[in-house]
Amino acid sequence: MRSITLDNITEAVVGALSDDIPARNREILESALKHMHAFMKEVDLTYEEWLGAMEWMRRAGDISDDSRNEFILISDILGVEVLADMLDKKPTHNETISTVLGPFYRENPPVLPKGASIIQKDFEGQETVRVTGTIRDTEGNPVPGVTMDVWEDAPNGLYEQQDPDQPDFNLRGRFETDADGAYDFVAIRPVPYPIPYDGAAGELLKYMGHHPMRPGHIHFMIMKDGYKSLISQIYDSETEYLDNDSVFAVKEELIGTMTKAPEGADTDLVMTFDFVIRNNALLGDIAAE
Ligand code: BEZ
Ligand code: FE
Repeated sequence: MRSITLDNITEAVVGALSDDIPARNREILESALKHMHAFMKEVDLTYEEWLGAMEWMRRAGDISDDSRNEFILISDILGVEVLADMLDKKPTHNETISTVLGPFYRENPPVLPKGASIIQKDFEGQETVRVTGTIRDTEGNPVPGVTMDVWEDAPNGLYEQQDPDQPDFNLRGRFETDADGAYDFVAIRPVPYPIPYDGAAGELLKYMGHHPMRPGHIHFMIMKDGYKSLISQIYDSETEYLDNDSVFAVKEELIGTMTKAPEGADTDLVMTFDFVIRNNALLGDIAAE
């Protein structure tokens, strides 16, 4: 197309997509281009606003490295990570719902026996909680030998890798379900914390007039060969920000209740939360649906 106008620009760019590209590339690009061009026209975007966005993206790149991906944070505060998760990981057989992984997972946490504590450093005013439950398959059978990684922030609102004063791998552990599919560990009642807002994601939060806070939660990654892995979080029913999470990751089904521990218990609180995971063999059922 020789003469580009407001009316033919979208057609010109879509027309530049080669016939040789995979069908999925075409589907994604064609839709993205049409929506992006329509959005620019709808808001009558100024050149200055476009340039501001380009500079902001450059700053997002500058602050990113192997341990920080600013683009994921940006997608989180726009609800895009949780939307990708909901689209890709729809529960098919009543298994426990997933939610976002977040940037603070670390591989190979300390392997701990059933019932052990993930607390390596005490904080004043902390409340300890024994978290127990059973992992079952979608038919209700307990699943033994499930690997469960758990991680959470400390009472100062920081994950251990953000805080030089916490021991390595503090508040992280890897557990395994026993012959009855049961798990058991001791943690700290999780507190709300701000997602990192000292970079481009923080600039966007300001632009949105939104806060950076997440409700108190414990992260879970549940894995066993032959089963669909589950990445999720349990939210404390009494925490703040359940109704206005900065990354939109709360689901009603993931809210757990912490109650006062019985007399003589070794923690302040207890919480039971059961999980349901899907056997991969059920994938055949989905294909047949
Ligand atoms: C988290 O829960 O750790 C988290 C999730 C999304 C963005 C930042 C943090
Ligand atoms: Fe978190």
